[in-house]
Amino acid sequence: MTAQSSSHRKPVRTAIFPVAGLGTRFLPATKATPKELLPVLDRPLIQFAIDEARAAGIERMVFVSHPSKSAIEHYVLEDPELEKTLREKGKDKMADRLCDNALDPEKVEVRFVMQDEPLGLGHAVLCAADEVLDGAVAVILPDDLILGEPGCLSEMIEAYQGADDGHMVATMQVDDQAVQSYGILSVTGRDGQVLKADGMVEKPAPEEAPSRQAVVGRYVLDGSIFEVLKTQEPGAGGEIQLTDAIARGSKELGLCGFRFTGTRFDCGSKEGMLSAILAYAGDRPEFQGVLDSATPTVLAAE
Ligand code: G1P
Repeated sequence: MTAQSSSHRKPVRTAIFPVAGLGTRFLPATKATPKELLPVLDRPLIQFAIDEARAAGIERMVFVSHPSKSAIEHYVLEDPELEKTLREKGKDKMADRLCDNALDPEKVEVRFVMQDEPLGLGHAVLCAADEVLDGAVAVILPDDLILGEPGCLSEMIEAYQGADDGHMVATMQVDDQAVQSYGILSVTGRDGQVLKADGMVEKPAPEEAPSRQAVVGRYVLDGSIFEVLKTQEPGAGGEIQLTDAIARGSKELGLCGFRFTGTRFDCGSKEGMLSAILAYAGDRPEFQGVLDSATPTVLAAE
């Protein structure tokens, strides 16, 4: 098992979106609406992830979903009936926007596979194994919203093409207490945005964490990850962890972290979602008045 050397690397063609989670932290909002469809203002979370993958040149998107979340399929695919109705009513601008957001199967291949049981992120990625194209694969967790240009996956894939490591994970610095909520990279060196690493640990106690570099939900993984996942035993939380499978292959394949440019929001938490909405609105002039008038109240309440 060796990673392709950087000079002959094939393009990263597939992105896997694990979207089977039940989103219990956002109940009751997620009782009938998948958490990936919760809006950051007027854009569902999954739209940001799709756009990031499109901008990175991804050819096939594999959504690992759950049978109770058919609304995701409805959202992701084109809806010719709705488009027709809008055009008949003269709402062409709105129809154009819908078309821009939806995935056109002639431009990007779309696959849905089901993860019936919540056996962990590693298991979710394994569910996509039969649908991936050759070469390394990207994994995007839509809960981790990363705003900013260039898109995180675009800059990661560019860095991956020039790196020798088989696996690359996006990372950010966190404080001591936060390490137990993330996969933590064992860092051995740094070259610009790329961190050399020799392993990673899922949700360690602060005193056992090998660094403060936390993995956020963007991965570019050597295609051999699926073979490793097939024999991956459950780890932290009794789940099949992607982190453990990456760590197992890392000695032979090489592993690195990537310090991305944008700002990451943990939209799996209410605080993160609210911050994302405020940041997203802050970039749009039409909301400036609302934000300006809200700010003094927020400050006064502190
Ligand atoms: C997952 C991964 C973890 C990673 C995190 C990023 O954890 O297992 O390694 O740091 O996503 O958001 P989860 O948040 O699903 O518990």
